[in-house]
Amino acid sequence: MKRVKILGTGVSLPSRVLTNADLEQMVDTSDEWITDRTGIQERRIADANTSTSDLCAGAVQHACEKIGLRPEQLDAIIVGTSTADTLFPSTACWVQRKLGIQGMPAFDVSAGCTGFIYGLELATSLVLSNTAKRVAVVGGEVMSKVINWKDRRTCVLFGDGAGAAIVGPSDSESGILASNWGADGTLAPILYQPAGGTQMPATHETVDADAHTVHMEGNTVFKHAVVAMSSAAVNAMKAAEITPEDVKVLVPHQANIRIMEAARERTGVSKDKLFSVLHKYGNMSAATIPVALHEAQEAGRIVRGDIVLMTAFGTGFTWGASVLRW
Ligand code: ACO
Repeated sequence: MKRVKILGTGVSLPSRVLTNADLEQMVDTSDEWITDRTGIQERRIADANTSTSDLCAGAVQHACEKIGLRPEQLDAIIVGTSTADTLFPSTACWVQRKLGIQGMPAFDVSAGCTGFIYGLELATSLVLSNTAKRVAVVGGEVMSKVINWKDRRTCVLFGDGAGAAIVGPSDSESGILASNWGADGTLAPILYQPAGGTQMPATHETVDADAHTVHMEGNTVFKHAVVAMSSAAVNAMKAAEITPEDVKVLVPHQANIRIMEAARERTGVSKDKLFSVLHKYGNMSAATIPVALHEAQEAGRIVRGDIVLMTAFGTGFTWGASVLRW
């Protein structure tokens, strides 16, 4: 084995579309404000009976089909999510149940929007150490169920969806060249869901106070996201011994087009290389990178041999970047 590579990708997106015009009927906002400040035009919303594991299972199934693998042949399942089905067991275990498979280890990674990159890093280690040969790395969220739909500062930003990548050994030049990851937990309360865990268990009062929904200092998140995403990307490029000119496609976490553009500029990668699906899906947290990665291939934007740079930032705060040759 020379490297670890992505063997195939898949997605699962709810069919219901919520447009900015729909949001104008729900809160005091406008299509113009949302489009100008975020770049988002519409997002997908899961129905009441759909949980994160349903979307993740769909994405794993899709990715397996793409490479002719049966889900039971997977050696491990890693799910990056902030919107777990239940506090326990892990969403990854619910994914096993929904796929009707068992035996292989299955666990979640709690790294917010960086969940897919963290999962990829772990999967790489599992494959490099010969612990596993086929690892499903999934980023999946049903953000719509943890949003305060009365809060216009947050409800316009998020969407639901899942993306998966099957990771395995590579005997060619294709594969992950280098990565960079980190976290700063001293900033944890800037973006979090206050209630429902052991810090603030669920009570009638916490529900009345909407404390089970996303609480965020948007401007602070914005500034940290730009700096962390760009420095992680620059560090990963340095470690891979490549220049911004070598990058064919930049797939950043998709939260706000202004964050993505500002981070891109700091990395030195040119504007035409940025791949975005933000306008149609909103911020799907851990799912944005695998979904964008899948759509970039489907659109012919990524072909074999291309250098792809991914970079993410999320609650924690966490960050991570990865450089790979497709
Ligand atoms: N519609 C209309 N007006 C709004 C809305 C809305 N949906 N939301 C806020 N406003 C108003 C505010 O009340 C404020 O009004 P005021 O000046 O009268 O007080 C005005 O718009 C400007 O508000 P700001 O917060 O300064 O707007 P800003 O340009 O910073 O954009 C935003 C806010 C979009 C939240 C931005 O800070 C952002 O994207 N931050 C990152 C947040 C994020 O992506 N979090 C996701 C998780 S982490 C991650 O994925 C990276």
